[in-house]
Amino acid sequence: MFDSGVGGLTIWQHIRALAPDLECHYLFDNALFPYGELPQPILNQRVLSLLLKLLETVAADAIVIACNTASTSVLNDIRLHVDIPVIGVVPAIKPAAALSQTKHIALLATPATVTRQYTDQLAADFAPDCRITRLGVSELVHLAEHYLLTGRLDEQTLAQLLKPISEQPDIDTVVLGCTHFPLVASPIASVLTSVRLVDSGYAVAQQVMRKLARSADEPLFERVEGVYYATKTLPNEEDFNQAVATFGLKKGRVLNLPL
Ligand code: DGL
Repeated sequence: MFDSGVGGLTIWQHIRALAPDLECHYLFDNALFPYGELPQPILNQRVLSLLLKLLETVAADAIVIACNTASTSVLNDIRLHVDIPVIGVVPAIKPAAALSQTKHIALLATPATVTRQYTDQLAADFAPDCRITRLGVSELVHLAEHYLLTGRLDEQTLAQLLKPISEQPDIDTVVLGCTHFPLVASPIASVLTSVRLVDSGYAVAQQVMRKLARSADEPLFERVEGVYYATKTLPNEEDFNQAVATFGLKKGRVLNLPL
């Protein structure tokens, strides 16, 4: 699995809950964080070289692109280059549209994801009867990274960032369309008190189980600790290791990938 940072851990959690004995490896592409600010051709090229490098490092049976920004950009293309299942994470517009009573939903994601053609297509296919307020905020990605490492978050900044949603009282459902955002779901919920938050984590984990042909009643073996890789040395490695250890992840090494 990989993401630009810790966001993909929200997908990881769901996968590990369904299959604690699955051997999982996680790559933080921290050298190119945040993905939401990258030009699309650079991101696409990067994702392809990451996947090839990962497959050289780990004999994986499947790859999870645990990132909406990368998946909405390059998922279909990438499948042409590798011969194992590639599972992506894309905004949960479909369930959100089905759940919404007011038919006004919001998409909270990176600036890149909210403008993708893939996202337009999801909206056209699954939410034709909904108005969608799209809010792309990289700052929230940084807040989520900081929150995971320190447990601290500036509530005023968060309330300010969420204003385009909180000022529209008829929005009843918000799609957390960036894997970083479930990490700050509680603080978001205390700002957006009367909306339902929806994300793709559990659905993605179920899809991974289907692709690996694992059934829910398969006997579980011992929990296996996961290994993480990074693409750049982490400046605050000790805190980082402590934070990710709570997800059952231990340090592997830095994978050097030319930018
Ligand atoms: N967690 C990622 C996503 O789901 C990317 C955030 C970023 O690096 O901008 O979009």
